[in-house]
Amino acid sequence: MAFTELKHPLIIDKLTRMRKIETSSKDFRQNLNEIAQLMVYEIFRDIKLVPIQIQTPMVETTGYTVDKPIVLVPILRAGIGMLDGIQTLIPTAKVAHIGLYRDEETLEIHQYFAKKTENIQDSYVIIVDPMLATGGSAIKAIDIVKSWGVKEIKFVCLVAVEYGIDRVLEKHADVEIYAASKDKELNEKGYIVPGLGDAGDRIFGTK
Ligand code: PRP
Ligand code: URA
Repeated sequence: MAFTELKHPLIIDKLTRMRKIETSSKDFRQNLNEIAQLMVYEIFRDIKLVPIQIQTPMVETTGYTVDKPIVLVPILRAGIGMLDGIQTLIPTAKVAHIGLYRDEETLEIHQYFAKKTENIQDSYVIIVDPMLATGGSAIKAIDIVKSWGVKEIKFVCLVAVEYGIDRVLEKHADVEIYAASKDKELNEKGYIVPGLGDAGDRIFGTK
């Protein structure tokens, strides 16, 4: 459907901190969670509400609630780094998991895990992963979520490049993609430039 770059001064400031090579894993994770939270706040600005009758301590009145459950789907590993921030904002969100990794030589995507939530087909699904590079992981994750019967899918990442965005939208034109930044290019190893390096390794301190 569309690609949106969510530019906000606080997001740009936090992303700059994450890009710096000297940023520790702890600060990297903290800024990642804070950005994810700010992005989701903005993304749900237009979410549909339905009226419900409630009783306050004073009177009966009409309140409003989100019309469908929300399910978050982090792509393991790096997507896990965005969960805490989003769950602070939407504590009732359930979490389904998809495990994927890119072969570092061939950039081919390998699936090693997938666990959905009950009745996921009736939910808003937000797939989260900090990086959209060649788009292979995003395409695979969306394939899996669609095979679960889900109709409304948003893909939320921090850094994306045009090549990957175009590939995802070619295959899945009905999905909305959001990024904090559209970066310049991919290098010959499939890494985003300027980017922020290997997100999973920086979150989990594995390199
Ligand atoms: C990274 C990243 C995305 C993927 C993006 O994961 O978190 O899932 O690469 O690249 P693509 O758009 O070219 O598919 P990686 O495979 O390194 O696994 P990890 O999260 O376990 O580190
Ligand atoms: N995966 C990452 O973690 N970083 C990139 O730049 C590209 C893919």
